[in-house]
Amino acid sequence: MSVSEMRQTALAMVAKGRGILAADESTGTIEKRFKSIGVENTEPNRRAYRDMLFTTRGLGQYVSGVILYDETLRQSSHDGVPFPELLARNGMIPGIKVDAGAKDLALCPGEKVTEGLDGLAKRCAEYYKMGARFAKWRAVITIGKDMPTTTCIAANAHALARYAAICQANGLVPIVEPEVLMDGDHTIERCQEVTEWTLNAVYDALYVNRVSLEESVLKPSMVISGADAKRQAPVDEVADRTVTILKRCVPAAVAGIVFLSGGQSDEIATEHLDAMNKRFKGNLPWPLSFSYGRALQHASLHAWKGSAANVAAAQAALLHRARMNSLAATGEYRPDLEKKAA
Ligand code: 13P
Repeated sequence: MSVSEMRQTALAMVAKGRGILAADESTGTIEKRFKSIGVENTEPNRRAYRDMLFTTRGLGQYVSGVILYDETLRQSSHDGVPFPELLARNGMIPGIKVDAGAKDLALCPGEKVTEGLDGLAKRCAEYYKMGARFAKWRAVITIGKDMPTTTCIAANAHALARYAAICQANGLVPIVEPEVLMDGDHTIERCQEVTEWTLNAVYDALYVNRVSLEESVLKPSMVISGADAKRQAPVDEVADRTVTILKRCVPAAVAGIVFLSGGQSDEIATEHLDAMNKRFKGNLPWPLSFSYGRALQHASLHAWKGSAANVAAAQAALLHRARMNSLAATGEYRPDLEKKAA
C-alpha cells in the first residue's frame, strides 16, 4: 500500500524531537502581543516580526512545521521569498489556521463555538496551491459554573470533525485542536473530567464524518489545575493525568499528539512535556510533542521589541526555547540547560 502524501506529512510533523511553531495569531491576537512590547500593530510590523521568527538559522532542526495566518501565508521575507517557500527551503512544513475564531454560542451564555466552515473547501484548495500542507482549527471549552454544557461540547466536536473532513478532501492534514481553557479556579480533577468528555465527543464526531485518523494530528490542552485554583498540581501529576486521559480517548491510529501551551509559562510547558516523555518512554502508541505559540515566542517577542537591532538576540531566544522543547519531546530536557543558556 502506498503511503499517502497526507500520511507522510502527518508523520513528518511529529518526527522524533521535532514539533510545531504556532505563529498563526490573528490580527486581533497579535495586537495583544505587540501591545505588551509597545509595538504598533501594522502590516509591516507583523511582517517584520514573522520574518525575524522564520529566518532563525537552524530552527528547522527542532521545528517540523509552522502554523501561519492567512495574511502571513501571503507575505514574504525581507529579501522577497514568500514565507511558505522560505519555510519549506529550511525544512519546515507550512501550515495554515483556517478557523474564523470562537464566537458566542447561541443560548449558552459564556460559551463559544468556532466558526469558519462556510467556503472552507475553496479556501483549503487555495491554501494547498500556495504551499500549505496542514491546517489548524481551534475549539475552546470553558470550565465554570454549569459549564461546559453538552451543547457546547457537541457543537464544537461537530465543527472540528467537519473541518477535518474538508481538509482531508483537499489534501491538508488537519490539526484537531480542542482546547479546554485553564482560566478559572477549578481543580485538576475537574479538568481531567472535562478533557475526557471532550476528547470522547471529538473522536466520535471524527468517526461519523469519515476522517482518516492516520492522516490527522491531535492538539490537546494538558490536564492541569485551573490558573486560579488553590492547589496547583505538580509536574508529575499533570503528566500522569494527561497521559491517562489520552490513552483512554485517542485511538492508536492517530499520527501524533502536539500540545498547546495555553498560557503556561515557558519553562513549565517544557517541563510538563518532558515529564510525559520521561515517564512513558516507549509505552505510548503516538509521539507526544509540542505545538506552542506563546511558550515558544514569549522570550523572543520580548527580546525583539520591534527593533531590527534586536533580531539576533530575539532569534537566539527562539532557538533556545525550540531546542528545550525538542529535548522535552524525547524526555531529555534538564532545567540546568536553561541556566547555562542564560
Ligand atoms: P499557545 O501555545 O499560546 O496556547 O498557542 C497555541 C495555539 O496554536 C492556540 O491555538
